[in-house]
Amino acid sequence: MTRIYNFNAGPAALPVPVLEKAQEEMLDFAGNGMSVMEMSHRSKGFAEIIEAAEAGVRRLMGVSDDYAVLFLQGGASLQFVMIPQNFRRDGKTADYINTGSWSSKAIKEGKINGSVNVAWDGKPENYMRVPRQEELNLSPDVEYLHICSNETIGGIRYDTFPETNAPLIADMSSEIMSRVVDVNRFGMIYAGAQKNIGPSGLALVIVRKDLIERCPENVPIFLRYSTHAENCSLYNTPNTWGIYILKLVTDWMDSIGGILAMQKINEEKAGALYDVLDSSNFWNPPADKASRSIMNVVWRLPNEELEDKFVNEAKKAGLVGLKGHRSVGGLRASIYNAVPRQAVDALIAFMKDFEAGNG
Ligand SMILES: Cc1ncc(COP(=O)(O)O)c(C=O)c1O
Repeated sequence: MTRIYNFNAGPAALPVPVLEKAQEEMLDFAGNGMSVMEMSHRSKGFAEIIEAAEAGVRRLMGVSDDYAVLFLQGGASLQFVMIPQNFRRDGKTADYINTGSWSSKAIKEGKINGSVNVAWDGKPENYMRVPRQEELNLSPDVEYLHICSNETIGGIRYDTFPETNAPLIADMSSEIMSRVVDVNRFGMIYAGAQKNIGPSGLALVIVRKDLIERCPENVPIFLRYSTHAENCSLYNTPNTWGIYILKLVTDWMDSIGGILAMQKINEEKAGALYDVLDSSNFWNPPADKASRSIMNVVWRLPNEELEDKFVNEAKKAGLVGLKGHRSVGGLRASIYNAVPRQAVDALIAFMKDFEAGNG
């Protein structure tokens, strides 16, 4: 068996010990005589899995009882829809910051059936940075402020999060559990699982319980956070397999030493890669230094031909997933929690050779 170095943006690399554990338990999960995929979501066996998954999230991220931890479907994209429906009551406005493709999508959904104030727009600057606090045009009386804490496509992230009087809601899809975050600063944090914490088709939602109560009566039952909170994410059949893998990922995170230990590893990996990108004019990382993501590292080469060549030769060298998002082109290495340091070192060695041959 050959495992290649996987820099996909999502679905993305999963920790090998997680895959091995899932393989080991595939035919007979914990003496149940069947795989997790074949178990009833109402069974005692699955209850133990979902409780352990929730406990893992709470333990690692320090989530208090003031918050509900939910496992939903529809990816992070359904959250773009549910957030305004649940939290923006009649006639009220919500603040959004536009730092890239994902916050733009959230804004588009937010504008359907209600009022949105774009408190800062990074589009004129090609989404190369996140805003400074003093640049924000926040509204005085809004239901929430929505941000995308790490823009997967542009490769930018907030070093420190914006200050606001309204509940702060963050799409953390591409950086959840990659660095220490004070959950208490947020009204809600959500993430599609497929980058750092599991397979696709599962969204993790951490939401303050008092906000859940705000939901207007005319919101469809399935789209209310209260429905899922009251039913412990078992209102309908959840993504049982995804929740199981997420639980295994939290076990693996514990074995690494938790999020702080992971953050240190992530900063070292990203630092090593940015050092190469800063070492010569051959590489052109567009993101402002202060906004650089430690999960999605984006750069350009002198021309598109060279970028194609880079992707093709990297693939032959066992390094895959390095093409930038189709909407922006260029190159991108997604170096999520499960991407080992060896993968980054292999990429760096390849980059140095590539520069020597083409620079
Ligand atoms: C930051 C961010 N938000 C939202 C999404 C959409 O997630 P999903 O495909 O789970 O709906 C993505 C997907 O890549 C993302 O990177």
